[in-house]
Amino acid sequence: MSVHTESQKPRRTILDIQNWKKDAQPLVMLTAYDFAMAQAVDEAGVDLILVGDSGGMVSLGYSTTVPVTMEDMLFMVTSVCRAKTNALVIADMPYLSYEITTEEAIRNAGRLIKTAGADAVKIEGGVKRHETIQAMVKAGIPVMGHVGLTPQTAQSLGGFKVQGKSLAAARDIILDAEAVQDAGAFSIVLEAIPAALSGVITGRLNIPTIGIGAGPKCDGQVLVTHDVLGLFQNFKPKFVRRYAELHPLIVKACQEYGEDVRTGNFPAAEHTFSIDEKILQQLVEELDKITTQN
Ligand code: KIV
Repeated sequence: MSVHTESQKPRRTILDIQNWKKDAQPLVMLTAYDFAMAQAVDEAGVDLILVGDSGGMVSLGYSTTVPVTMEDMLFMVTSVCRAKTNALVIADMPYLSYEITTEEAIRNAGRLIKTAGADAVKIEGGVKRHETIQAMVKAGIPVMGHVGLTPQTAQSLGGFKVQGKSLAAARDIILDAEAVQDAGAFSIVLEAIPAALSGVITGRLNIPTIGIGAGPKCDGQVLVTHDVLGLFQNFKPKFVRRYAELHPLIVKACQEYGEDVRTGNFPAAEHTFSIDEKILQQLVEELDKITTQN
């Protein structure tokens, strides 16, 4: 019997996600980097919230995800977790927070889970990260993998390009995905690979695949919320569908506010606090007395 009342939606669990393949409905994941956005995407009913290191670019203004620090991630993850969402919260581990030693990887993942409150962490890489994922899972940390285009090491992949188009590259991505599953990850992101290759990988794995620029054959989809909402203006990847254009709306609203302040149209009576007339009168008299004494 469920311990939840009618009004309380049960929070998603790692087990729910792991078993998702049996469900016909695709998993829905979106990113959030702060409290307000986490509340909004959760209210929209997403299954997973990713506090991606993409937040370093779209929210903190770095030009790539490479400079993102553990402190940046802890700040964003803590803010998202304060929203106490029904969706599971996955924290991206930033570049070089998990590659140096497995001990360091476990310690940093532990900070994102114990200190900031994430449910799981995500790391980039396949075969090369097998040992790290295995050690983290052994330590009780739920891990999501990420293969294909891995933005933290995009430079060594030839830039932000579709991956897995040659036979050798496609084979390598399959091996990477299988290594992630074999190491104990509960799900995996496939980024910027051909749709048919995602289909092959999704068919071979028992854990759910979540695609971004990987076509419709994955078990779920993820996008960066700032791209979905038209909040990030610097560029728009081919695989993004915009559902709103918020940037011009924000500019317009802020312009109207500025105009109202400059013309004295804001604040109006309804935004203003009053004081009892008698108290005001007494105050004026007291101040007058002090002024005349001096
Ligand atoms: O950081 C991020 O938002 C991601 C997604 C692109 C999957 O890793």
